[in-house]
Amino acid sequence: MDCLYGSSLSFFSLLVFLCIIISSSSQLAQAFNLNTISFDEGYSHLFGDSNLVRSPDGRGVRLLLDRFTGSGFISSSMYNHGFFSANIKLPSDYTAGVVVAFYTSNGDVFEKTHDELDIEFLGDITGKPWRFQTNLYGNGSTSRGREERYHMWFDPTKDFHRYSILWTSKSIIFFVDEVPIREVVRSEEMGSDFPAKPMSLYATIWDASTWATSGGKYKVNYKYAPFVAEFKDLVLDGCSVDPIQEFPSAVCSAIDLQIESNEYSVVTPEQRAAMRRFRQRYMYYSYCYDTLRYPLPPPECVIVPSEKFRFKETGRLKFGGSHKSHKRRSRRRSQTPVVVLDNDD
Ligand SMILES: *[C@@H]1O[C@H](CO)[C@@H](O)[C@H](O)[C@H]1NC(C)=O
Repeated sequence: MDCLYGSSLSFFSLLVFLCIIISSSSQLAQAFNLNTISFDEGYSHLFGDSNLVRSPDGRGVRLLLDRFTGSGFISSSMYNHGFFSANIKLPSDYTAGVVVAFYTSNGDVFEKTHDELDIEFLGDITGKPWRFQTNLYGNGSTSRGREERYHMWFDPTKDFHRYSILWTSKSIIFFVDEVPIREVVRSEEMGSDFPAKPMSLYATIWDASTWATSGGKYKVNYKYAPFVAEFKDLVLDGCSVDPIQEFPSAVCSAIDLQIESNEYSVVTPEQRAAMRRFRQRYMYYSYCYDTLRYPLPPPECVIVPSEKFRFKETGRLKFGGSHKSHKRRSRRRSQTPVVVLDNDD
């Protein structure tokens, strides 16, 4: 925290005191209590030869993208529901065209009817911050993208931040640190568009020059390679199953129940308020407001009037978005999202 600004001594000690209180309470409010695993306990190398580099303690990996290849890893099991999470630090400087993805999918097993839950980080030219998007598909609903795009309230290249996907039979929640940023509640009308078959967890870095930055205007520049994304404090909570068997389920029901009662699954009123503030401030595209694409919003869309008026019929913001001025302010104030998001409505 940028707390130590005071000039006079007594003011200085007051500040230190306040800093201690604020940082300890925000830490309490922040940290989910998670069981992290080592890389080899839960994952294996997917592609990219020597561009996947395990950390010396075996608890993390670096994924590199260079002119020859990107790289990626995959969970060794498939899961029928779960909580998938990692602390991730993204490559810095010029990263246009680079995509770092943290997602679940079963596309290898169910080619035509796959399910998928995505967090995709989109790089940018020097001086322009990373953005990210979330999306989901169910039973091959690839013609019905459900993308949302967001700016971030911190610099994801400076420190590790936790990114998580919670998938239960009732809902899907995407988290950044401990802030739930998107919730999709399963409804009858969604039918099989809601993911329902076992999925693996994937993490990859790759060259998406054709679309990632300004619609493909800025490509990967390998003068800046290798691009390095770091992953650690990995979490895989869920019922691991054989995707081909019919889903067996006494065991899974017990694990599902456990996941649904875990701290991260219970969205507190404070977290819900933080989610609302995040979305009002940092979301700059939503398929739910893209009426050119979906004249009738898909059934899970919750149209929030105070959000909707900010978006054009393309689902993009009417104005450049308020994130820029807020961002400057929030950086000065604190890196803690709950605090930052709290102060401004
Ligand atoms: C998933 O899609 C396939 C192919 O379109 C269809 O046959 C099947 O009934 C769908 N599954 C569910 C659960 O709707």
